[in-house]
Amino acid sequence: MTSEFLSSKVRAVVLEKYGNPKDVLRVHTYELPPITPTTLHIRFLASPINPADVNQIEGVYPVKPTFTKELGILPDGEHKELAVAGNEGLAEVIAVGDQIKDFKVGDWVVIGRSGFGTWRTHAVATPNDVIRINHEGIGLIQAATLTVNPCTAYRMLKDFVTLNEGDFVIQCGSNSGVGQAVIQIAKAWNINTINIVRNRPDIEDLKARLKSLGATYIITYEELKSNEAKDLIKEWTGGNDIKLGLNCIGGDVAREMSKYLGHSGHHVTYGAMSKQPFSIPASILIFKNIKFSGYWMTEWNQTHSKEERAEMLNEVIKLIKQGKLGDVAYEEVLWGSQTENDESLKDKFLNAFDKAGAGFHGKKQILRMQS
Ligand SMILES: NC(=O)c1ccc[n+]([C@@H]2O[C@H](COP(=O)([O-])OP(=O)(O)OC[C@H]3O[C@@H](n4cnc5c(N)ncnc54)[C@H](OP(=O)(O)O)[C@@H]3O)[C@@H](O)[C@H]2O)c1
Repeated sequence: MTSEFLSSKVRAVVLEKYGNPKDVLRVHTYELPPITPTTLHIRFLASPINPADVNQIEGVYPVKPTFTKELGILPDGEHKELAVAGNEGLAEVIAVGDQIKDFKVGDWVVIGRSGFGTWRTHAVATPNDVIRINHEGIGLIQAATLTVNPCTAYRMLKDFVTLNEGDFVIQCGSNSGVGQAVIQIAKAWNINTINIVRNRPDIEDLKARLKSLGATYIITYEELKSNEAKDLIKEWTGGNDIKLGLNCIGGDVAREMSKYLGHSGHHVTYGAMSKQPFSIPASILIFKNIKFSGYWMTEWNQTHSKEERAEMLNEVIKLIKQGKLGDVAYEEVLWGSQTENDESLKDKFLNAFDKAGAGFHGKKQILRMQS
């Protein structure tokens, strides 16, 4: 089967070495190689910019991008190894190699492995690189942001403690993409959430938005540190133990949050947005037996079977179809047009990239591919 896109060029955000993203990222335009019997051609529909993508470009993320000479020659004539950046994305199959039987043109696929390179308009993939999803009833943005944040939230709510209806979970960074998914999945399972966010001038708007997602209680970090917080949270929980704490921030707020966990509660760290380490009060280890763990979705994917992964995705997709898990707050960036030059696409990309990295911005930046 031939690809209707062979006449088009691939537009991609690439790097040839690790470093500050502003210094090492460039937009590169190259030909999509011809289809082979064992490969697929895919056309990206949307790819988010996630915090871990930045760490990967800086070279400090455990999963490295795929450097290859197959992306063609640079405008200066040099044939270097390049890697396409970006790890999450939704694509449509546009051509299928003759020997591949379980994919067809028009299928929607999400990228099944970190390091594939999703900030590009088209790619060659093998069936192992992608996971087909039944997209009936799912929006494009939901599908494009399915594999990282909602799955992380789902696993953390399931894998560390047994949560029953009416139980309490506390989290910081509650307005993050993961935090929003935690709120909604917990609400769907009748689990209460206490959500810590940073204060800001429009805090009431943020509280209203998280409430509309299903947040049970919301507290700013500043309020959490006040003398009244202990009584307030006790009133909220009715004196019941908080079983699970989810931390993507680190620093003082991660420590403060740990003090609110009940006996044998579990504190799970999955991110470090403040870039600050946190200390653990000895008393909560000795007298409350609080457990501390880390969670990494990539490792879970690597250590679980295709069937277990499919089951998780189906569960998350079911929540979306039931209207219980909505779009993350996002801003769409139209990107990759065939008629725009590389410099203009780079500027557009870096603008989105800046917003993605800026605190208090609150909207996931999503490249919506124009190809
Ligand atoms: N371990 C895993 O498997 C896994 C999976 C998914 C995500 N993650 C990690 O989880 C974290 C959140 O990811 P995401 O995609 O949900 O992010 P996101 O939607 O971009 O949200 C970023 C969050 O970080 C907060 N933040 C940003 N800079 C901060 C700072 N200097 N101090 C305190 N808070 C700050 C933001 O709050 P404000 O509005 O207050 O700025 C927001 O809540 C990242 O660290 C990411 O790498 C880990």
